[in-house]
Amino acid sequence: MLSLKGAWSAEMPLVQDQLHRIEEDAARDLAATADEAALEGWRVAYLGRRGRLTQVLRGLSALVEEERRNLGAAANQLKQRLEDAHEAHHSALGDAALRTTMREGRLDVTLPGVRGPIGRLHPITQTLRDILGAFASMGFQVTEGPEIEWDRYNFEMLRIPADHPARDLWDTLWMDYERDGVRPMLLRTHTSPNQIRVMESQEPPVRVVVPGKCYRYEATDATHEWMFHQVEGLAVDENISIGDLKGTLYEFTKRMFGSERRVRFRTDYFPFVEPGVEMAMDCFNCRGGGCRTCGNQGWIEILGAGMVHPEVLTGVGYDAERYTGFAFGMGVERIAMLRYGIEDIRHFFANDLRFLRQF
Ligand code: DAH
Repeated sequence: MLSLKGAWSAEMPLVQDQLHRIEEDAARDLAATADEAALEGWRVAYLGRRGRLTQVLRGLSALVEEERRNLGAAANQLKQRLEDAHEAHHSALGDAALRTTMREGRLDVTLPGVRGPIGRLHPITQTLRDILGAFASMGFQVTEGPEIEWDRYNFEMLRIPADHPARDLWDTLWMDYERDGVRPMLLRTHTSPNQIRVMESQEPPVRVVVPGKCYRYEATDATHEWMFHQVEGLAVDENISIGDLKGTLYEFTKRMFGSERRVRFRTDYFPFVEPGVEMAMDCFNCRGGGCRTCGNQGWIEILGAGMVHPEVLTGVGYDAERYTGFAFGMGVERIAMLRYGIEDIRHFFANDLRFLRQF
């Protein structure tokens, strides 16, 4: 056939030669690509928009039809082979990378894990829970009462009338509220008002412990805070004696501190008990010898207690001929100080993490 388009052209061997060289070079270069970046460079160099093979393919349009058909087919087959080779190399590189990670980045499952930070309970909360736990295991129930209290419960029904000098024992923060010319509400100065609240709401037998915050209008020092915690205890039944009081408190100290700690009872005065006692423990610091922590006493007072005054019992409507009871009130911070050997009560509420993290 002698058409112009079908004419033999001098271009043909040239292009074939180019394809041949491209294939050789591509094979050699591909064998040398060791990572994804190099492989991508290879793809761009041969198959990219300005790649060597692409340029040949573009140049084909200048050829006569027959040449274009023959060479086009050859070039497209080469393109296919290069694309296949690219794909194969790509997955080979992936396998190699995975093998490397598995070899070098092997997970040592025996290494200790990374621990996230965990919070903790405040030392007063911990101590409070242990105190309540000790009494709960002896059959006491736990209840609570309000922090804003009536004068009537905080003082009057505990035999501390308005003009009584014993009120000086409790420096009171009064609520700014007046009725009939007096201020009847206050921040409770102790947990003892709960003795009244409990007895007003139930008949004997009574066995309760009442934890809570207390407030006093006073300057702070190493052993005094204006806010602190107490646990009140009350047991009322037939035939309760001071022996029951002492036995209960001995058992409590043993459970809280172990049996080596010594305790001491001495008579004391509280208007709502008769007789009244104070219980002290040997000082955690000097163990009884006398030091600065205990004011040279060798002992640290941790609670007040006594036999519930008969007038308190009749005040709530109990039959004081039939029932007797004991009561106690302990300072939780004091107990925590004894337990952990803390010398200044103010540490508890300074919120210094260096202190709190030790518990
Ligand atoms: N409420 C007293 C105080 O805060 C402590 C106390 C003493 C409580 C004797 C009692 C008790 O129940 O019987 O100082």
